[in-house]
Amino acid sequence: MVSEFLTREEIEEAAAFIRARTRHRPTIGLITGSGLDALADEVTEADAIPYAQIPHFPVATVEGHPGDLVIGRLEGKEVAVKRGRAHFYEGYPMQQVTFPVRVMRALGVETLIVTNAAGGLNPAFKAGDIMLITDHINLVGMAGLNPLHGPNDPALGPRFVDMSHAYDPQLQELARRGARELGFELQQGVYIMLAGPTFETPADVRFLQLIGADAVGMSTVPEVIVARHGGMRALGLSHISNVIAVGHEAEGDLHQEVLAAGAAAVPRLLALIRGIIRKI
Ligand code: HPA
Repeated sequence: MVSEFLTREEIEEAAAFIRARTRHRPTIGLITGSGLDALADEVTEADAIPYAQIPHFPVATVEGHPGDLVIGRLEGKEVAVKRGRAHFYEGYPMQQVTFPVRVMRALGVETLIVTNAAGGLNPAFKAGDIMLITDHINLVGMAGLNPLHGPNDPALGPRFVDMSHAYDPQLQELARRGARELGFELQQGVYIMLAGPTFETPADVRFLQLIGADAVGMSTVPEVIVARHGGMRALGLSHISNVIAVGHEAEGDLHQEVLAAGAAAVPRLLALIRGIIRKI
C-alpha cells in the first residue's frame, strides 16, 4: 500500500518500469471506461503490462474493468491505452486514482483521450449516444476531493491550474468533424462527477440537471485535472449507457445495463477515436 500523496520519484519508478518493457514511446494516452475496453484490442505491435506489476499502480477491482496498460500503435501513432481504471469509490485516494496519468505524462504522453460510461441527464439523450464533453462540473472537488489537494511539486505542474479550457477546443473540433464524417449525431454537454458507488435518486437527478449537467459518472474529472496540471491536452467522450432523466428510470440491474449498452456503442466510439488519432 502506498501513501496518499505520491512523489515524482514514485512516478519515475513506474515510468522506468514501463519503458523497460516496451520499445514504443507513446505521445497519446487513452483511458477506457466501463464496457469500452475493446479500444485496446485495436492496438497493434502491443505490449500489455498488467497494472499489478507496475510499481505503485492502482489495480481496478470492478467487473468490466480488467487492468493492464497496452502500449503500441494505432493509426500510425504510438499510444498507451489504460484498459480499465481505478475509481475513488473503490477506496483509492484521488492522488492514486490519477497516478497513471502522471506516469503517462512521464512517458511522454502529450494528449489524453478519456472515455467513460455516463448516465444521461439531458432528456434529449438516448442510451447508446456518444457525448463530447465540452466542460465538467467537479462536484466532488468542490467538496474537497481534488487530486491536486496536498503538497504541490512545481516540477509536475503549477499550484493553481487554469480550467477555463479543460477540454481542448481543437480536439473537440476534431471529434465534431469526425462524427460528421462517420455520419452520426454527436451529443455535446457538461459531465459531472459524483463519488459513487451509488447511482442517483430522482431528487439527485433533478438537482444535477438544475445545476447544468448533461451526463453524470464516477470518473474522468480527476484524470482531466491532473492532465491539465501536467500540461497535457485533454479530450473526453462519454458513452451514454443509460438515461436517468426523470421518467427514464431503469427497470433492471443498472450496472448490467451500463455494460450491455457499452458493447453496442463500442464500434462507433472506436471509429471516432481512430479518426481523431489519425488527425492529431
Ligand atoms: N450514474 C452514474 N454513473 C454512471 C451512470 C449513472 O446513471 N451510468 C454509467 N455511469
